[in-house]
Amino acid sequence: MRKYGFWILFILIIVGFSDSVFLTYEYDTLSSVGCPVSPLINCLAVTSSKYSQIAGMPLALLGMFYYVFLFFLLMKKNKLFTSLLLVTTLFGVLFSSYLIYVQAFLIGLFCLYCLLSALVSFLIFGFSFWFFRKESKTLILDLGGYFYKYIAKPILFLIDPEVAHINMVLLGEKIFKNKVVVAIFRKIHVKKFPRLRQKIKDINFSTPIGLAAGFDYEGRLTQVLPYIGFGFGTVGTVTNGSYEGNPKPRLGRLPKSASLMVNKGFKSLGAGIISERLSKLKFGYPVGISIGRTNSKILKTVDSSIVDIVSAFKTFEKNKINSSYYELNISCPNLIHGSVSFYPLANLKKLLLATDKLRLKKPIFIKMPIDQTNRHTKNMLAEICKHKIAGVILGNLQTNTKDKSVHKDERKKYKVGKLSGKPTQKRSNELIKLAYKNYGDKLTIIGCGGVFSVEDAWAKFESGATLVQLITGMIFEGPQLISQINEGLNEMFVRKGFKNIAEVIGSNVD
Ligand SMILES: Cc1cc2nc3c(=O)[nH]c(=O)nc-3n(C[C@H](O)[C@H](O)[C@H](O)COP(=O)(O)O)c2cc1C
Repeated sequence: MRKYGFWILFILIIVGFSDSVFLTYEYDTLSSVGCPVSPLINCLAVTSSKYSQIAGMPLALLGMFYYVFLFFLLMKKNKLFTSLLLVTTLFGVLFSSYLIYVQAFLIGLFCLYCLLSALVSFLIFGFSFWFFRKESKTLILDLGGYFYKYIAKPILFLIDPEVAHINMVLLGEKIFKNKVVVAIFRKIHVKKFPRLRQKIKDINFSTPIGLAAGFDYEGRLTQVLPYIGFGFGTVGTVTNGSYEGNPKPRLGRLPKSASLMVNKGFKSLGAGIISERLSKLKFGYPVGISIGRTNSKILKTVDSSIVDIVSAFKTFEKNKINSSYYELNISCPNLIHGSVSFYPLANLKKLLLATDKLRLKKPIFIKMPIDQTNRHTKNMLAEICKHKIAGVILGNLQTNTKDKSVHKDERKKYKVGKLSGKPTQKRSNELIKLAYKNYGDKLTIIGCGGVFSVEDAWAKFESGATLVQLITGMIFEGPQLISQINEGLNEMFVRKGFKNIAEVIGSNVD
């Protein structure tokens, strides 16, 4: 049936054009040939009413131009013209709806040929979106992006960042309880991309783009994120004990640097509450739990911090969450209580020996810092390889807020916190390459830091990442970014002649 789509549209345009020619003739001659008169139908009353023209131009004549324009767009087979065709048919439907309203409520009479014109508009709209369904999905994503960039983001960026974050999460959680919303988003965003599919550590990832730890830290969005295109998502970081967060400001924006200032310091409801919440849920995609050390004055030593972390793991295990993997976050740069660090190799070893003893079935990925030297990062990776660890996430926030990756006007904007987004990108990619070159055969690498586009994600795969995570890109570009990256990756595979992700991973590492 689809192969006839072009001809169906072509015939509808001819019918619509002929109808407009006829209505223009009726308007000019004040006739109503072929139009029966009844209490509801009177063509002349409609075509001679004050609503039948705009600024002296008969609507029927405008209709003729409309169909000629559609014909021209239909003949030009490229992305821009197809998008224009889809947008034009949308306007056609909206205008036809207005004209039906005018006939029904303002004139109180209908014109049969005007109704035919409306019917043709609706059919052209429906068939266009059906015939060009691939292009229409891209168009919907692009329009979503423009809406976010020019309307939603300017409004959201007027609000305090933490208030905006909390409310967007609560709104998402609430509206995705509605089945119609889920169905609409599923239709637009959930698509099978065989080239993007991977099985890693026995977990099936439908796409390699995931949500990084820190956005859904209370586990409220696991029923939302699969429907905006994410292939996996991390809840947390969750800590064993609860913590109300560092003193404000905890979150800030650096628009010129495409970055966020983060100073939450593991704000968490605690493992008990979060695991309880998640224990009731089934997940439509792989969910990970990020675990870190409670930001508490009581935890003064490495040993007590390890006991705290192990307790959090045990709580999640006890509650039998349907999650697929764990992240062990050793790199939060904002823990203001206690000065325990797992960067010294002896401390790292102690921690990993403790997690080994848990004998977890789910794989653990270590969330790594990006501010350590290459040499020390290599030493840490060497230690990690000796344990029951599936891989590493490279990496966390940029701690050098004076780095030249931060726009000079914004280097002194905040006295507290560390930076996400673009300032993390370069170092993250360098470390992914380093890890891939030295331990690519032992560790799965998840690339994280400064992904704002399909090219950014591609660079991470080429550097050696198997999966990619992001947060800041979504906040700056809009939630449609995830599907745009998925679509873009898929197209890139075809264009560059790669069959699947495995062929791309590490292809830029010498
Ligand atoms: C608001 C915010 C909160 C974050 N909180 C955490 C966290 O709790 N645990 C963690 O491992 N990383 C956290 N991060 C770091 C991110 O997971 C990620 O490593 C970093 O932001 C770089 O990715 P991006 O540029 O895509 O945002 C946070 C980042 C942001 C923006």
